[in-house]
This record gives sequence, structure tokens and C-alpha cells, in this order.
Amino acid sequence: MACDPLVMAHLPPLTRAESDAAVERMIATEREHGHVFWALDRKVEGDFIGFCGVLPPRAPIFEYEIGWRLAHHAWGLGLAREAAEASFAWAWQNLPVPTIMAITNLSNTRSWGLMERLGMVRYPAEDFDHPDLADDDPLKPHILYRIHRPEPAAA
Ligand SMILES: CC(C)(COP(=O)(O)OP(=O)(O)OC[C@H]1O[C@@H](n2cnc3c(N)ncnc32)[C@H](O)[C@@H]1OP(=O)(O)O)[C@@H](O)C(=O)NCCC(=O)NCCS
Repeated sequence: MACDPLVMAHLPPLTRAESDAAVERMIATEREHGHVFWALDRKVEGDFIGFCGVLPPRAPIFEYEIGWRLAHHAWGLGLAREAAEASFAWAWQNLPVPTIMAITNLSNTRSWGLMERLGMVRYPAEDFDHPDLADDDPLKPHILYRIHRPEPAAA
């Protein structure tokens, strides 16, 4: 998944070793915090289709962050949305946070399209250049979306 040019069109591509290291970091984050970008398996088919979940605050934004990446064969089926809605439901129940944010590039229409389908709102005043990317990297300019914890239903 992490070396498929279609999947990584708006992300820095990873070597096998970098992808393995990222998985190790995910496992360590899950152990320390109890949540991460979780692996997604389809219930019936049992195949691995990607990841989605909420990461604890980290540089450069220092807020809880939802993120996703699906293998190409799993796009266009509503699976990312289903996984993101399940991740929000888990987060609102288990994390004491008023908001969750997401970041992407303006060119990643599929990712910010999903943010909008989920009811997230863009904060244009918080557009930023990602500090981990080179100045001439076209992926450097980032946009930020946020969602607020839903109000409890009236009794
Ligand atoms: C971003 C990404 C996760 C979005 O995945 P996705 O499958 O497009 O998103 P959704 O789960 O919301 O699915 C929406 C599509 O499923 C279709 N769909 C089919 N059945 C559906 C259902 N039951 N419910 C909802 N949508 C359904 C929708 O019509 C829509 O189709 P379209 O893409 O033709 O408009 C995916 O494109 C991806 O992994 N990209 C590469 C990695 C990446 O860039 N990650 C983000 C970095 S910031």
C-alpha cells in the first residue's frame, strides 16, 4: 500500500524499511496511548485494506488527529467513511477532547472530500507549510479541518 503510486500520490512515498518502521511506531503508540491509526480488516473477506484512527497530539499541530489510508481496491466503497465514523465514536467515548483535527494537501481532494462528508470544517486561517517537507516539495502546503464533539442528545 505504501509504495503504490496511486495511494501515495499526495504523500511522501515509503520504502519497505520505512513502512515497517512506521508500523513499529504505530504499535508503540497503541501500547502507550491505547489508540493509533488502527489497521483495517474487512469482516467478511478478512483482508487488510489500510488504516484509520486517531493519533495523540504530536508536532506540528499538537492536537488529536484523525487520519486514513486505504489500499486502492478499497476506495469508492464508503469504507474510509465507515472507519472514520467508528474512530470518532470511539474517540468521543474514550478521549477527553472537545475537537479532533485532520490535515492534508489542497490537491488531495479525496482526503478533504472525506473530511467534508464527515462534517469536518476547514480553518483556512490555519493553512500551514508542513515542517517535515522540503521547501520545494509541492506537498508542503497543508490545510486543516476540525470537528467538534457532538452535543449530548437532549433527554
Ligand atoms: C482518502 C481516502 C481514504 C478516501 O477513500 P474513499 O473510498 O474515497 O472514501 P469514502 O469511504 O468516503 O468513500 C466514498 C466513495 O464511496 C462511494 N460509496 C459506495 N458505497 C458507499 C456507501 N455505502 N457509503 C458511502 N459511500 C459509498 C461513494 O459514492 C464515494 O464514491 P466516489 O469516490 O466515486 O465519489 C482514499 O482515497 C485513500 O486512501 N487515499 C490515499 C491515501 C491518502 O491520501 N490518505 C490521506 C492523507 S492526508
